[in-house]
Amino acid sequence: MRGVLVTGASRGIGRAVAAAFAAAGDRVAVQYASRREDAEETLRLLPGSGHALIRSDLSEAGSAERVVDEAVAGLGQVDVLVNNAAVAPSPATHHPVATVSLDAWRTVWRQMIDVNLLAAADLTWAVARHLIDRGSAGHVVNIGSRGAFRGEPEYPAYGASKAALHAFGQSMAVALAPHGISVTAVAPGFVATERQSSKLAGSQGDGLRGESPFGRVGTPEEVAAAVRYLAAPEATWASGTILDLNGASHLRT
Ligand SMILES: NC(=O)c1ccc[n+]([C@@H]2O[C@H](COP(=O)([O-])OP(=O)(O)OC[C@H]3O[C@@H](n4cnc5c(N)ncnc54)[C@H](OP(=O)(O)O)[C@@H]3O)[C@@H](O)[C@H]2O)c1
Repeated sequence: MRGVLVTGASRGIGRAVAAAFAAAGDRVAVQYASRREDAEETLRLLPGSGHALIRSDLSEAGSAERVVDEAVAGLGQVDVLVNNAAVAPSPATHHPVATVSLDAWRTVWRQMIDVNLLAAADLTWAVARHLIDRGSAGHVVNIGSRGAFRGEPEYPAYGASKAALHAFGQSMAVALAPHGISVTAVAPGFVATERQSSKLAGSQGDGLRGESPFGRVGTPEEVAAAVRYLAAPEATWASGTILDLNGASHLRT
């Protein structure tokens, strides 16, 4: 039985990822920041036993090491890390360059880089060292974004943080391969999570669905299935990949 640490698993894609691993018989550590009730609901939804709940604000210095220590204590070991937590596009993080103040611009840039990139880097360091010390193979899967390739004109810090996360993961894929650890990423397009529900229900909804020739947006379960595949031993040879999950809405070369 493997131990799987999923960050940002209070809802949305993180919850679906946690559920997919638990359904396959793994033990899961559900990390969250502020939505305690939602995170407890994720835990309740997980089949099997031995799962753990971890609260931590990943923008705080030292939090990543503490989260990994708590996950190891709660699960016995960590074999898979899914870096999913993010400060994502929302009305609170909207920062179009032409209209936002410099103060607000700087604040959002720092929030997004702190959580989306630096926390993922620290978590990767801590899980990699735990695996190396144990002499165990393992897997890191980063939740990136289509926005890294297509651009995020109204959320440039988000696009930059995800492009950096993709690049960081590729460096780690090379650095950690000699230790039997694979590092991959998924780059989802628009996914129907709670955070996105008002956009999908509102005037933008048809346009968002129309971005894909399938005429719909993605589901958290589709992302979770890909993450579970990339964290399987038989996917080790995919290390270094960035898997597009965008319903052919954006074709990169
Ligand atoms: N949905 C999409 O359309 C889409 C598309 C491409 C990529 N993605 C990526 O997929 C991932 C999940 O997206 P989602 O839509 O499910 O997001 P979401 O509903 O906003 O969930 C974000 C998660 O990150 C956690 N988090 C936020 N700030 C944190 C902090 N400072 N410390 C620790 N945890 C923190 C949240 O915890 P709390 O709830 O407890 O605050 C929550 O569990 C993100 O990496 C996102 O960038 C999403």
